[in-house]
Amino acid sequence: MAQNEDLFKKIISHAKEYGFIFPSSEIYDGMAAVYDYGQYGVELKNNIKQYWWKSMTQMHENIVGIDTAIFMHPTIWKASGHVDAFNDPLIDNKDSKKRYRADVLVEDHIAKIEDKINKEVEKAEKRFGESFDKAQFISTNPRVMENQAKIDSITERFAQLMNDNNLVGVKELIEELGIVCPISGTRNWTDVRQFNLMFSTQMGSLSEDSNVVYLRPETAQGIFVNYLNVQKTGRMKIPFGIAQIGKAFRNEIVARQFIFRMREFEQMEMQFFVRPGTELQWFEYWKETRKKWHLSLGIAESKYRFHDHIKLAHYANAATDIEFEFPFGFKELEGIHSRTDFDLKRHQEFSGKKLQYFDPELNESYVPYVVETSIGLDRTFLAIFSNALKEEKLEDGSERVVLNLPKVLAPIKAAVLPLVKKDGMPEKAREIMDMLKQDFMMQYDEKDAIGKRYRRQDAIGTPYCITVDTQTLEDNTVTIRERDTMKQDRIHINELFTYISNGIRPLIK
Ligand code: GAP
Repeated sequence: MAQNEDLFKKIISHAKEYGFIFPSSEIYDGMAAVYDYGQYGVELKNNIKQYWWKSMTQMHENIVGIDTAIFMHPTIWKASGHVDAFNDPLIDNKDSKKRYRADVLVEDHIAKIEDKINKEVEKAEKRFGESFDKAQFISTNPRVMENQAKIDSITERFAQLMNDNNLVGVKELIEELGIVCPISGTRNWTDVRQFNLMFSTQMGSLSEDSNVVYLRPETAQGIFVNYLNVQKTGRMKIPFGIAQIGKAFRNEIVARQFIFRMREFEQMEMQFFVRPGTELQWFEYWKETRKKWHLSLGIAESKYRFHDHIKLAHYANAATDIEFEFPFGFKELEGIHSRTDFDLKRHQEFSGKKLQYFDPELNESYVPYVVETSIGLDRTFLAIFSNALKEEKLEDGSERVVLNLPKVLAPIKAAVLPLVKKDGMPEKAREIMDMLKQDFMMQYDEKDAIGKRYRRQDAIGTPYCITVDTQTLEDNTVTIRERDTMKQDRIHINELFTYISNGIRPLIK
């Protein structure tokens, strides 16, 4: 645990030190859960967006993209259910005056019991060595079984209470479990109440109720309300999809874990419109397709797992999360939901406009069903960035920090480095820059010893360093060093374009 906390701190400080992510409004002491992307951060973020966008639109003939406004008609959020039900249960500790999400307090309590189980398993593993059978131990050890039963009972009871919107019961559960405030150490809790996560503001000059507008809490609704516009103008035939990348806003109560949970963030969402009755096949298709997308980035499969929802939201008939192993454990990265015809039907009802599709094959009209894939851009950034940061001991005993990002996503694709700042090497290096900068994001660096410059590029994840030396001036060859192996090839400058292109080729299938 402590080791992971340490790693997480390193990730946050590396992101800041190397111009990836800064706390927002830092000179005014920052804003909780709001972050700014720096010069390398924005490149990495844009590359992730492009990688997702291409995989959705360019690679699927039946998916197109749109870009809808953040402000939308307020009735949309009534229809979608967000005004009435997009809530978190909130509780305050009267002594510390700190506010918590009741579900997070319960989850943290469960995590402590899980820790006990894990310790028990570790101890036994050490005791039994190679002959240790983990599955058997977990299913037979009385202490583990007792703790697992506790977890199951709390989970079930809490889910039931939330389902029934029984907030008094939630408070009783917190008291019964003896949960204390991590700051004051007391159990002096307020009642639990629901807190709506949408930010609102006024449009126009009057601050009357009717002028209240919301900052969208998801981009999906912009797709739903435009589905017929796109279907008609794009002559789309079901099944088809609409993709969108954009900002979303949520007034999160527990805002921690860096860019994992933010108040202003970006989503990459795709709604896939299908014939009713086929949605579960498409749900499976998208589970598989999205998994392949993640694996195409070259990150170990063991870092991902599916978490199927047993309790479903009222509008869904199947749902799963793709979880990623962040430094603080497995957490949701992406959601895949079979949303039925809930959203379109509600918009039909609230707008009074027909949102039906005429299916020429069936010769009938219906409201399509929808399978959604929804992934947080910032969470994807964190997953990729945290997985890439490595401290390595080299053969000569020295150490380096390297960000082995998927090459296709690296902010800078190649750096051009004149070995020394004289003898015509800078001029030659500039020539190479001019040759390549149309096609790749490049960086020129002539300051400090070459070793130090390599380290700087390693730390921002640059896949290739091109070094101009005396021989370059004689025969137009350069050395090109690969980030992960540190191996160097000597090639002609005319081969650089192909060499780099092949090295960073997108892996999308
Ligand atoms: N349209 C469906 C939807 O919005 P969600 O599970 O609430 O579903 C989808 O959000 C994804 O958006 C999540 O899997 C996560 O990656 C990202 N996300 C949600 N809340 C976030 C927050 N406060 N900060 C950063 N990312 C967030």
